[in-house]
Amino acid sequence: MSRLDPHSYWDSEHPRTVHAHLRLRVDFDARVLRGEITLTLDRDSGGALDLDTKGLTVHAARADDGTELAHRLFDEEEILGRRLRLELPAGTRSVSLAYDTSPDALGLQWLAPEQTEGGRRPFLFSQCQAIHARSLAPLQDTPRVRTPYSAEVSVPEGFTAVMSAGPEGDAPGPERGRRTFTFRMPQPIPPYLLALAVGELEARELSPRARVWAEPASVAAAAWEFAQVEELIRTAEALFGPYDWERYDMLVLPPSFPYGGMENPRMTFLTPTLLAGDRSLVDVVAHELAHSWTGNLVTNADMQHFWLNEGFTVWAERRILEALHGPDVAALGWALGETALHAALERFGADSPLTRLRTELEGIDPDDAFSSLPYEKGARFVALIERSAGRARFDAFVRAYMARFRFGALTSEEFIAFLEDQLPGLPAQVDAQAWLYQPGLPANAPVFRSDALERLGALAEGFASGVRPAPDESERWSPAELQVYLQRLPRELTQAECAWLEARFALTGRGNHEILVEWLTIAAGSDHEPAFARLREVLMRVGRMKYLRPLYTALGRHARTRALAREVFALAAPGYHALARRVVAGVIEKYAAD
Ligand code: BES
Ligand code: ZN
Repeated sequence: MSRLDPHSYWDSEHPRTVHAHLRLRVDFDARVLRGEITLTLDRDSGGALDLDTKGLTVHAARADDGTELAHRLFDEEEILGRRLRLELPAGTRSVSLAYDTSPDALGLQWLAPEQTEGGRRPFLFSQCQAIHARSLAPLQDTPRVRTPYSAEVSVPEGFTAVMSAGPEGDAPGPERGRRTFTFRMPQPIPPYLLALAVGELEARELSPRARVWAEPASVAAAAWEFAQVEELIRTAEALFGPYDWERYDMLVLPPSFPYGGMENPRMTFLTPTLLAGDRSLVDVVAHELAHSWTGNLVTNADMQHFWLNEGFTVWAERRILEALHGPDVAALGWALGETALHAALERFGADSPLTRLRTELEGIDPDDAFSSLPYEKGARFVALIERSAGRARFDAFVRAYMARFRFGALTSEEFIAFLEDQLPGLPAQVDAQAWLYQPGLPANAPVFRSDALERLGALAEGFASGVRPAPDESERWSPAELQVYLQRLPRELTQAECAWLEARFALTGRGNHEILVEWLTIAAGSDHEPAFARLREVLMRVGRMKYLRPLYTALGRHARTRALAREVFALAAPGYHALARRVVAGVIEKYAAD
């Protein structure tokens, strides 16, 4: 037996899946997918085949010729779920499994009509990263096993299904009142990139290879917000090579989507909080698009090497922004990331093993290990290598890296070996061992400066002693500059200081949720009552974990706001994604008792 991924029952000595075909019937009443999956194997096989499952009811397993296969579901293990072992007769080339998902599958969120913008129809979306694909279908749920896939998804008439795959059309059936959508993803993808959403959806074309999907009420706003996506794709192609996935479509989800974005290939999933009305949050699109190279083409072998996905992608996102808007705009991104990095170091403790880039996650749930650390420490490691090698040599390295590992998965150790091979001596020069295996932020971390940043830092530092920017200065700030300023203010202000901020910047009415949430975090931590109504509204509607964690944490400072948090959470929890519910419950549990 040989298990290489601590988060999967996949056995590298068993046959490998080389193709998956899914037949899914979406049942909104039961909140269940009735499914059948056919896994094609890489060779004529016999003996054991272990698959990952979580919360699945398996009805039957069959071999290619339809004969029933012996199968056994092992006991539930808290993080991994249940191992499904099939016994294959010699010569088996494919297996089919009939199963149902559980209504509380962690990889799915079923929304009531009230949780959508239209308010008329339910909605379903998946979120498989990191290890939730196994709650949608039995499979070898590890990034080392990549497969193309195809799917037939039956939904009630009037709904649209989209997947992380090319649409192949739709037709009425199989029963009356239903419609079946067909998909094909010809490129091999890791299971965490399997994705499905079903709802009342409409699309707008943005370019010959890009469109945006959203609920009808917001599709026009979404088309405007992301109109420049083709420019982003071209810029990324100039940096990283041709875009390999044919189409780049996006889906704007209802507000309970727990992330900002998810790089599902051919169909990036996005939070509606990006619809700021001024295109100020397209950096998230640049990030998800960049994953088309770093993450989706070249993938972390398992979650212990997650920085290879996210650190590289944050670096790539900032290279795209730099190419489009110049180094000062990119420097703002690095500055915002620095605050997130320090918050993560503080949350875990700077000597926690979870602050190493290369983590050991045996027995640890990747959702609990998640933080900005692999993003921002990882991006700084990549930027350090870039600076040490020089940009031209590093860009050539990145091309070679993509060519070597495309449609593959790799570990941190394989990355360093490849770096040594291409740029001999560089790993030692940057002290790669310290970056990968030691906690905290190494002293040789690159620093990003700009005049604007120095100025914002000085203004924020003087805030407590009465320093204020002149109105004609702060009027010229971009949204990101205002965000940097707010981030650097003390976490607790006087009522008069809060009132001044609101009077100067009209923060409560902002559509840019990065600014709005930064402000509401300060207001919550300052027990500033005039902001409570808006705070409630945001907590009731938005399920993005990046916002819920700081808001509920800040509400923990004062007895009155703790009571507010408990009251709002009781009302809002049923609408949150299960993962978000878990994060917020964890924050509230740590509140002082009163
Ligand atoms: N792949 C991540 C989201 C993710 C990571 C989901 C791990 C589940 C497990 C995505 O690309 C991401 O990083 N999203 C960020 C956006 C960003 C850093 C610009 C987010 O959701 O905030
Ligand atoms: Zn990412």
